[in-house]
Amino acid sequence: MNHFELKGGELACEDVPLAKIAEAVGTPVYVYSSATLQRHVTVLRDALVGAGLKDPLIAFAVKANPNVAVLRTLAQAGAGADVVSQGEIRRALAAGIAPERIVFSGVGKSEAEIAFALETGVAEINLESEPELHLVNAVAQRLGKRAVVAIRVNPDVEAGGHAKISTGKAENKFGVSMIEAERLYANAANMAGVRPVGVACHIGSQITDLAPMEEAFAKMRGLVERLRAEGLGVERLDLGGGLGAPYFNAPTPPTPADYAAMIARTMAGLTDIQFAFEPGRMIAANAGVLLAQVQHVNARPGGRKFLVLDAAMNDLLRPAMYDAWHDIRPVKPRDGEPVTYDVVGPICETGDTFTRDRVLPPMEAGDLVAFMTAGAYGAAMSSEYNSRLLVPEVLVKGDRFAVVRPRPTYDDMLARETPAPWL
Ligand code: LLP
Repeated sequence: MNHFELKGGELACEDVPLAKIAEAVGTPVYVYSSATLQRHVTVLRDALVGAGLKDPLIAFAVKANPNVAVLRTLAQAGAGADVVSQGEIRRALAAGIAPERIVFSGVGKSEAEIAFALETGVAEINLESEPELHLVNAVAQRLGKRAVVAIRVNPDVEAGGHAKISTGKAENKFGVSMIEAERLYANAANMAGVRPVGVACHIGSQITDLAPMEEAFAKMRGLVERLRAEGLGVERLDLGGGLGAPYFNAPTPPTPADYAAMIARTMAGLTDIQFAFEPGRMIAANAGVLLAQVQHVNARPGGRKFLVLDAAMNDLLRPAMYDAWHDIRPVKPRDGEPVTYDVVGPICETGDTFTRDRVLPPMEAGDLVAFMTAGAYGAAMSSEYNSRLLVPEVLVKGDRFAVVRPRPTYDDMLARETPAPWL
């Protein structure tokens, strides 16, 4: 469910017409709904608690939407943060998220990042490899600390979905094997600089079938039981993120209730364990849209019609990068026969095509359109390619809205660069 609906014939975010935001801020612009963001955290937590999981940590995957106002909105609903860089730790802290609710994941954490995480007191560092275990052990000892760690396991399951975002097969770069995890956990328990508290997994993103998750989670449960049988304490089990969002063309993702029921079933009888989750997309995706304006309609003699927008692949990379499908809705739908369009941006490469042969209501230059389900991995992956200004972001709450990342000026853009002394 989301809070982008037609009100009085035009698309609104909560009680704010999108046209009003376009007029005030210009386009392209991302628009987020506070109500949708908060609802998703609440629905997930209620489902998990309802299924019998006590006090789960919902650590929002900051990479999906790192805007500090978004993070603060989620934190107010009780979310923590899953972070993968020093920058993300700093964003989570700036949003008021307590370090005890921050989990630090990522394949290649640098020494400086590990030191920063330890000084900050993040809840847990998820270790992805043996060298990383030794690095964290060394850094922690140097700082006179004992790092609280979990071992990220690669459960070797096929999660389906796009190859570029699948992470849980043995051939992927993430985590260690089950066998290795047992050995590393036992080693870690004897190291002065680390204290292993749990195990973690994350098998992929935009998963719409619970079966691979269930397979992975059952393996994780088995691992917890084996570690405990060896006399090792396991207090936490981090099951990652990955639940899909409704993109309208794809299979409908499982509901949070079905997801929670599957976990309760898989973990039945496992006691004294705190569950953690790292959802990104399912929280933020349909809490946001990318609002754009039609520059012109370019009708080719052969009959192909290009709908040229002022948004481009630098603002929303997912279609170019993953062939992702986003629903495109006119903000003020016109009456008339639907038209088949290729929807494109102004960037000078063919990859700057959002979609081909999309049947939409008739459009004219100046019309506004919204790319739906764009709140996750949208602004987060935007860039200045073609020296286009970084896309701004707006947060809506009820009948109010605020620019939470302003559009930079061209002077801002140029001021970041410094000439080489010989030029
Ligand atoms: N935890 C870890 C360790 C992750 O690597 C990820 C996502 C998540 C949690 C959150 O997964 P989610 O719940 O959002 O599926 N840019 C791509 C998605 C990349 C996902 C990377 N890792 C896209 O636009 O589809």
